[in-house]
This record gives sequence, C-alpha cells and structure tokens, in this order.
Amino acid sequence: MEPIISTPYYLYEEKIILEQINKIANAKILKKNIHFSLMSNNNICLLNILKESGLGVFTSSVQELAIAKKAGFDNKKIIFCSSNLKIDEIKEVINVNPVIIADSFNQLNKYLENGSLKEIGIRISFEPEFYRKNNFLEIQRQGIEVDQLGQAIELCERHGVKIVGIHSYFGTNNSNEEFFKTGLSKLIDVSTQFKDLEFIDGSGGFGLDYSNEKFNFNLNELVRSFNDVLSGYPQLSGSIELKIEPGRFIMGPAGKLICTVTEVYEKQGRIFIGVDTNLSQFPRPYIYGEYHRIEVYKRIKKDKLKRPHTFIVGNSIKSDDFFAINIDFPKVEEGDQLCFNYAGAYCYSLSSNFCGQLRPAEYLLSENNEYSEIRTPESFSTLIKTQNPRSPGQ
Ligand SMILES: Cc1ncc(COP(=O)(O)O)c(C=O)c1O
Repeated sequence: MEPIISTPYYLYEEKIILEQINKIANAKILKKNIHFSLMSNNNICLLNILKESGLGVFTSSVQELAIAKKAGFDNKKIIFCSSNLKIDEIKEVINVNPVIIADSFNQLNKYLENGSLKEIGIRISFEPEFYRKNNFLEIQRQGIEVDQLGQAIELCERHGVKIVGIHSYFGTNNSNEEFFKTGLSKLIDVSTQFKDLEFIDGSGGFGLDYSNEKFNFNLNELVRSFNDVLSGYPQLSGSIELKIEPGRFIMGPAGKLICTVTEVYEKQGRIFIGVDTNLSQFPRPYIYGEYHRIEVYKRIKKDKLKRPHTFIVGNSIKSDDFFAINIDFPKVEEGDQLCFNYAGAYCYSLSSNFCGQLRPAEYLLSENNEYSEIRTPESFSTLIKTQNPRSPGQ
C-alpha cells in the first residue's frame, strides 16, 4: 500500500533502475565497467542499489568522490575526473586513490608532482572540426590534444607512472551514434601509443527522448563497432576493456516528481493548472526547455474529459515557470496529484533554493513494493544555516 506522502516528492522505482542496467549489460558491456555518473543523481540509497548490482561510479568533484566512498564503493570502482582543481584537492584525490583521469596536460603535471601515483588515465580531445561536424562544443576546454600525447607519455614515464586508461567525452543527451562511434574509433587509433593501456572510456551522454519516453541510442551497435575497430589492432584486442559513464540512461526513466494541483483557472481561452512545485525543485523544463510527460497520478473524481490549450505552471513568482505549454490534458481539480515522468536524472541534482524554495523529499519504491523515504525534505533552517547576519550595530 502506498503511504500518504506530502507533495512534492521524487519517487524512484528500483525495478526500473535494474531494467535499465540490464539493457546496458545485454549490449555486452560488463557491469563492472559501467560507471554510473553521480552528477545525474547522488542519492546514497540509490547508489547502494547500483553497487549491489556490480556497477562502479563516475565522480566529477571531490564532494562526489566523498559521497561514492560513503556509499561504500571500492576505489577501483570509482572513476574521478574533474577540472581546474586546487593543489589541495589534487592531493586529496591522490590520497583517496580512485581511478584518476587527468583532464588537461597541466592537471596531469600537477598529479605527477603532488603524490606518488602508480597509474593514471588521461582525457583526450580531438580536432575542432570533429566536434563542429557533430554539432557539439567546438571549443573543447578539457582534454589533452592528440599532438601532445607523446609529451604526456614521456612525462609519465619520467615519473614512473603508467597510463592505463584513455577517456573522451562526446556530448550529453546525445542520440548521434555516429559521433560516439567515430569518437571511439579515434580513441582506439591513438591507443596504440600506450603500452600499459587497460581501458578505453567513452564516458556517458546517451540521449533520452523525454516527451515520448524512448531511448533511441543503439548501444548494441556502439559495442559492435568498438569491437570491430579493436579487432583491426591485434596487439590491443583481448586486453582492452570498454568503460562507459552513463547517468541519465540509468536513472532518468526510474524517477518521477509527484505534485498536487493547487489551482485551476481559465484565462484568455487557456486553462492554467497550477501545482505545488516549481522550477527550483524541478528545473529541467526551465533550464533545457524540455517537456517531461505529465500524467494524472491520483484524482478525486473520475473524469476522462481531455481539454485542449492547457498550461501546467509552477508556484514560483517567475512568469516563465512552465512545465507544459498548450497541451491536451485531462480535466483535473484542486487536490488531484500529477506526476512528471523521466525525472530521475539531472532533476533533484540540479535543484536549488532559488526563490526561497526548499528541495523536496526523495522516496524509493523497492522491488518488493515497499516505500521508503531516502532523503528528507529540506527545512527552513537549510536556507539560513550558512548565513552570518550582521547585527545592526556592525
Ligand atoms: C565526463 C562525463 N561522463 C559522464 C557524464 C554523464 O552523462 P549522462 O548522464 O548524460 O550519461 C558526463 C555528463 O556531463 C560527463 O561530462
């Protein structure tokens, strides 16, 4: 039985998380080589489900690294790659000892100068034309350029450090398989320069179609093409593993945000449905202009009537706090509950306190149909606990 939970709240379904993992494993990517990207969702209870399924994690800050450790991941299961780190952070990362990927030539130097590493991975970027052709950021601020690889190898050799992994990033929410395939084959091409290589990391970014709740990316095809290209390099095949770092694909479909209708009104021939959540708590529609499919979750009266020209809007003061614009939507009334689908990734993790809003609770529906609160809602003290108000006399 579903308990009565006050809205808004995020709800994650364990069954869907496991189904998403199995889809990747069925594409013949080893579970141990799937590193869930913590930036998409860092809830420790959800991370535990992934850990128990054999997955690793990808972390992008020292705070995410600490969360991964708190969730109990083994160092070898944690990939760490971050930008513009301070020396103290570099030392901290070396001390924790995850699988480190240096994201620039400069950063590689800092890792080598500030600790006693045995091995490291490097992030590589390719020529601007490659990204431009694929409508991705032509200015790649991260990554070591291909013509600097010789220098990077020499530098690591001088420090007695093995380069065991190469990594590159081909976009986020991207459904362009060719881009990934060409990118991976470029990585395989340069990989012959590295004598101690153990893995090639194609990172994450596999795209979801939010409004139709589909996944168009062909993972099987990506793995097939990786193995095909690799088989052209007999000295590499057999010894190199493909790693990936998906966040959105695993957690996006597993989460919903549930909210309550607080107002229904008509204005200028349109129907406005106001809800008790907003762009601070559920930010993707505002940030990316994305429509997450909305359904009636619970209703007081049964009423099948669909009404056109419906707008579903948030409870912040921002005039562009829209969740749906001009859709056909069932007739609802105050007190009914709605849910936003595909809200498991980059929703809670992107939420904020903008307009004094508090982050909602997170709940898990386990495989055996039990509900549990896995993060409590924020309270007013969250907003003020880091403030140092000056007294009037100062
Ligand atoms: C290096 C890296 N790996 C993995 C990811 C995760 O991407 P996604 O959640 O879209 O799969 C990102 C996202 O920006 C990234 O920058």
